[in-house]
Amino acid sequence: MTDRIARAWDAAAQGYDAYYVPRFAPWVADAVGAVTGSALPDGPVLVPCCGTFPELPALVEHLPGREIVGIDLSAGMVRIARAAAARHPAVSVLEGDAATLDARWDGACAAVVSVFGLQQLPGPAHALRSWAAALRPGGRLSVVFWPGRPELDGPFALMSELLGRPPDRTWEDGLTSGLTGVERDEEVAHPITHPDAATCFDAHVRSGPLRPLLDEKGPAFVEGLRAEFLRRAPAGEWVHRPGARHIVAVRDSGSP
Ligand SMILES: C[S@@+](CC[C@H](N)C(=O)[O-])C[C@H]1O[C@@H](n2cnc3c(N)ncnc32)[C@H](O)[C@@H]1O
Repeated sequence: MTDRIARAWDAAAQGYDAYYVPRFAPWVADAVGAVTGSALPDGPVLVPCCGTFPELPALVEHLPGREIVGIDLSAGMVRIARAAAARHPAVSVLEGDAATLDARWDGACAAVVSVFGLQQLPGPAHALRSWAAALRPGGRLSVVFWPGRPELDGPFALMSELLGRPPDRTWEDGLTSGLTGVERDEEVAHPITHPDAATCFDAHVRSGPLRPLLDEKGPAFVEGLRAEFLRRAPAGEWVHRPGARHIVAVRDSGSP
């Protein structure tokens, strides 16, 4: 399963960087801003599920010289992320599973920042606890992820409907019950503009979260889905405003 996800993101990496990274930039700014806006303890900043590492420019700008470590499962993503990190000596990118962090990070980190990775992990609540356990006292956790239903109307909603995938929200409830020091747990919505429905569909399937579908079900299935998507979609430019969930927590000195 993990391997299948990694290979799908390998194939999607370049297209993801070109299409989604600029569109998701406001959420990356939210996530990074929640750790750079306050004083941090010493220690590295971890970025689980860093993908091509869009979090990096703002992190190095606001935390110059700080050790920053990206972690991603996909070799294709890691290749692009390492190229972005190459001119920053204190930045490195590890290829690996971020669902459970290595014990060497326990209590060692100044911050953990993650954007749009948590919802893909098999056990999001477990991962969140593992990321929080990496913090030093005073360290900050900032995680942005897509909930089961990020919008009622728009391309993400249409795609879920056509795939007959009712949103699975079971994992979202109680997500923060194992966390201490939760400072923020809120929806953050920003507009996304797609030039048209066809471009949006193709990006979603070739370079986005539905890439495994293409690999699994093949081109004929995807063509049928595309035709129905275009039939139901508005003509011309498509602007929507999906809402992500943003959790910010601070580890206090008394936390376990
Ligand atoms: C939607 S991308 C987000 C990338 C980046 N944070 C951003 O905001 O653009 C999700 C990333 O999570 C990675 N990923 C999925 N499962 C993972 C896991 N178990 N461990 C580490 N990375 C994982 C994928 O390889 C992909 O690069």
